Amino acid sequence: MTEKIEIEVKNENDSIIAEGDDVILYLDHRRTYLVKAKAGRDFHTHRGYIKLGDLIGKNFGDKIESSTGTSFIILKPSLRDFALKFPRLTQIMYPKDIGLILAYTGIGPGWRVVEGGVGSGVLTAFLANSVRPSGRVYGYEVNERFLQNARKNLERVGLMDYVELKLRDIGQGIVERDVDLVVLDLATPWLFIENVWEALKPSGYFVSFSPTINQVEKTVEALRQGSFIDIEAIECILRNFKVKMGETRPETIMVGHTGYLVFARRISKDISSYAAKAEEKIREE
Ligand SMILES: C[S@@+](CC[C@H](N)C(=O)[O-])C[C@H]1O[C@@H](n2cnc3c(N)ncnc32)[C@H](O)[C@@H]1O
Repeated sequence: MTEKIEIEVKNENDSIIAEGDDVILYLDHRRTYLVKAKAGRDFHTHRGYIKLGDLIGKNFGDKIESSTGTSFIILKPSLRDFALKFPRLTQIMYPKDIGLILAYTGIGPGWRVVEGGVGSGVLTAFLANSVRPSGRVYGYEVNERFLQNARKNLERVGLMDYVELKLRDIGQGIVERDVDLVVLDLATPWLFIENVWEALKPSGYFVSFSPTINQVEKTVEALRQGSFIDIEAIECILRNFKVKMGETRPETIMVGHTGYLVFARRISKDISSYAAKAEEKIREE
């Protein structure tokens, strides 16, 4: 059984670490370790070992020293910390792209969301965290091993109560109706646009994530042929900065590419030819 953790801050004493609490040991931005406070256990790093029992009773935000005298800052893990350390069996979606999905759609508590291609469950975790407590994420995945791994990951962060995982090809049809959002992170989103239309509520959101631009062209074309409007293709390029007074500049190394996002909204079939003409006119202007 995977142990559940609770992400919510519950009371004032929440900042004091108790036996079994999850903790991030922060050496620097690139070197962070997710551990549990546990009496009698050691955690070995290249900077010596840390007695995990010594974490108990300390405050988040304090520091702890390893056997070689290196200080590690003790932080409370965020959902991002957990998700980026999920065991992965697939490529995952990164927070910069997930952030755009959350902000562009305005997803919130109570939303019903269909996700195609659960993979390792990273996106699922953020969707579930947004729709809880009354919403649901219906996650479709064709690979049983991936699905089991995603289930464990979601249980680990206490979000499985808001997710229904299905071992099912989304091409066989989406069972749910009147959903607020469908997100597809799989190889051929353009093949499923009709299924998506059937599942979405009027004016509901479609989002796809694809690593190559030819996938984007096919998806946008399928949306134009279907009954969708407000179609946007976006790439989110993220640059980290090295901030030093008088010498601030972008980091030398950056993540050059993750993928492209396509957003669209479902409209009625009987106005789709009007909408298509209006959109075409705008493209030609
Ligand atoms: C890139 S991964 C998704 C990663 C996920 N967004 C995450 O953040 O962990 C794509 C997943 O889509 C699944 N998949 C591909 N075609 C599918 C289909 N027709 N129906 C359901 N799942 C599918 C694959 O098995 C794979 O796990």
